[in-house]
Amino acid sequence: MSEPYLPPRKGSIKNPLRIAVLISGSGSGLLALLNHQQSNQSPHITKLIISDNINAGGLRYGEDFGIPAVAISLPDSVSKIEQRIMHENLIHDKLMNYDIELVVLSGYMRILTSTFVSKWKGRLINIHPSLLPKYPGAHAHRDALADGANMTGCTVHLVDEGVDTGEIIAQEEVEILDGDTIEELQERVKKIEHQLYPKVLDTFCSKGV
Ligand code: GRF
Repeated sequence: MSEPYLPPRKGSIKNPLRIAVLISGSGSGLLALLNHQQSNQSPHITKLIISDNINAGGLRYGEDFGIPAVAISLPDSVSKIEQRIMHENLIHDKLMNYDIELVVLSGYMRILTSTFVSKWKGRLINIHPSLLPKYPGAHAHRDALADGANMTGCTVHLVDEGVDTGEIIAQEEVEILDGDTIEELQERVKKIEHQLYPKVLDTFCSKGV
């Protein structure tokens, strides 16, 4: 049986929710969020950046914004599942050390195990570059183009035990243009994501329980 969602406390401008952002790559979404938090009165504040990839370009925003940014690579292990659980335990310990209240996935390219999800369910949020339930998984733009779709978009959703199956919080459409490449579509969708995710987080974090 799957666990219920347990939302975070209500964040406020005076007492913002302490966020960790998990990334794997360039971190353009992370940068948009940090800029938003810096230039607006926000009910959330980024206190920690974690990447599973030591070469993730987005790690540099930690230094730029004075926020601890750490790479936690997959540890060596005999079995894949043991390796995933050990890795997630390292991440969980770090989140606890920094009193993190909400985990924001922003281009984090690993699927989390149900063990990790159950610890954070309701306080674990993701943005996916399609209009879910269409095109889940790691190749959303490729799949939308291969399908001949003329509309795609992005979805902010809570993370559950499945892959991109959690409760949808917000979506925004993006038109697919004739001759779009994966890269062109990805860039246009990212521009929308960069506006949507911070705004949705503002609303989500001020709701609370
Ligand atoms: C975004 O399109 C996000 O939806 C997807 O990965 C991309 C992250 O890009 N999961 P970046 O690393 O923030 O530039």
